[in-house]
Parts: sequence; structure tokens; C-alpha cells
Amino acid sequence: MHVLALLWTLGLLLKEAQAWGFRNGIFHNSIWLERAAGVYHRESRKGRYQLTFKEAKAVCEYEGGALATYQQLEAARQIGFHVCAAGWFDRGRVGYPIVKAGALCGFGKVGIIDYGYRLNKSERWDAYCYNPDSKECGGVQTDLQKTIQSPGFPDEYEDEQICSWHIRVPRDQRIHLHFLEFDVEDDTSCLADYLEVYDSYDDVSGFVGRFCGDYLPDDIISTGNVMTLKFLSDASVTAGGFQLQYTAFNTSVFSHN
Ligand SMILES: *[C@@H]1O[C@H](CO)[C@@H](O)[C@H](O)[C@H]1NC(C)=O
Ligand SMILES: *[C@@H]1O[C@H](CO)[C@@H](O)[C@H](O)[C@H]1NC(C)=O
Repeated sequence: MHVLALLWTLGLLLKEAQAWGFRNGIFHNSIWLERAAGVYHRESRKGRYQLTFKEAKAVCEYEGGALATYQQLEAARQIGFHVCAAGWFDRGRVGYPIVKAGALCGFGKVGIIDYGYRLNKSERWDAYCYNPDSKECGGVQTDLQKTIQSPGFPDEYEDEQICSWHIRVPRDQRIHLHFLEFDVEDDTSCLADYLEVYDSYDDVSGFVGRFCGDYLPDDIISTGNVMTLKFLSDASVTAGGFQLQYTAFNTSVFSHN
């Protein structure tokens, strides 16, 4: 609470400075909060609410991170991290971050919806991880333009990969995804290996599409300044992989077209 109170004060003090402050009820653009963007949501490969506390910890550690602390989750929430799914965070606490009040999620409240420290660590929930360092397989991307590729590209990717890229460009900009190469194990419903695109900062809301096979997907343009890509491969059969480029562009330029 002290940290939040301090941030609030800081927010008021620096309200004049363009780069800092509250807009639409959300605190934007502090360097400290920039790092808080390393918080992300994960669910089990089997779907929602399948991870015990131990498994949730393992999911985050597998990707080089750790379960997020309450403070990291709250900091991420303040820059717009909103996920309607309860997950484990540090020390066996469970909850989820809500930015916009809604009847269907969070009981109409805003904040961390906190289920408290769970006595039963075998309960199954999702996970909230913290990992501010981008790595080859996933990570937080804030560059204005970047090429993203499957792990090991141009070599074949390996079995059992889970990579999530969370792209966030400055507010008032949008993201243009353009596929350069695409070859992911083909099956009719893309159940084995796939790349998913979400028009949001998490892999829960804003689903755009799931892709596999060797047709180059069409370009995709975000509606806001965030986007998430999730690549998953199963335990058998791999393929050449993919390469795509994203580019940030000004909303004003787009609306003139
Ligand atoms: C703990 O939670 C698991 C999963 O919900 C349940 O199967 C188990 O019975 C619970 N244990 C206790 C002691 O309540
Ligand atoms: C986008 O807008 C910003 C601020 O108005 C400006 O500084 C920048 O040059 C613009 N970028 C492009 C690519 O037009």
C-alpha cells in the first residue's frame, strides 16, 4: 500500500510532465511501470484452471521468470493489464487484475480481485508470471519495429515449445503484423502446433486467429497499442517455423487512408 500511495503522489506531482500521469484512469509511462509490463498470464496446455501452485511456479520458471508478486501484478494492472482469469501469484496467493469494471468479471470491482493465500496448494488455477527480460522464445517487445521468429529459425523449431510475445508500442500507435515465412505442422483444426494472435496484451481476450500449415497468413492490424502472439508446439512432428515483422504506425496516419 505504501508503494501505491507513493506512486499516487508521484503521479499527481508529475501530472504536468507529458510522459507521466493518469489518463483514462490508468497510470502511464513511468520507467518503473515499464518494467512491470513483464507480468503476463499463463494457462496450462490443457486449458483454463489446470495448474496447482507447484505447476504454476514451474511454468514461470521454465520461461526464465517467476510467479509475479502482488505488487508487480498491481503495477501491471495500472498500465492496463486486465485479465478475467484467476491465477496463482507469489507465495500461493490467487487473484486477477481488473481495469474496467464489468458485471461478468470481478464482481463489478476494479483492482486486484484477491482470493487470498490458498491453504490448499493443490487447487487448480492459471498463473501470473513475471519476466521482464525478453528472450528468443517470447518476451515483452516495446521496439517500434521488430522481426519475430520461431525458436531456432531458420532451423526447424523443437517439440514442446510455448512462447508468448507481448507487443506494446506507444499509446496512439497501432501494430501492423506482416508474415514473411510460415511453415507450422499442419492439421485441420491446428490442434498440434500453432501460432495464435490476440488483439490484446494477454492470451485471454481479443482472439484474432490460430494459424498452422504453410499458407502465409494475411497481414493483421491491431485496434490498440498492444498485441500478443503465442506459439505452441506439441510432443511430435516439427516444421520449418515462421518469421514475421511488426511495425508500429501512428493512428492519425492510418485514419487518413
Ligand atoms: C484441495 O484441492 C483439490 C483440488 O480442488 C481437491 O481435490 C482436494 O480435495 C483439496 N484438499 C482438501 C484437503 O480440501
Ligand atoms: C507519429 O507521431 C509522433 C507524435 O505526433 C511523431 O513524433 C512521429 O514522427 C510520428 N511518426 C510517424 C511515422 O509519422
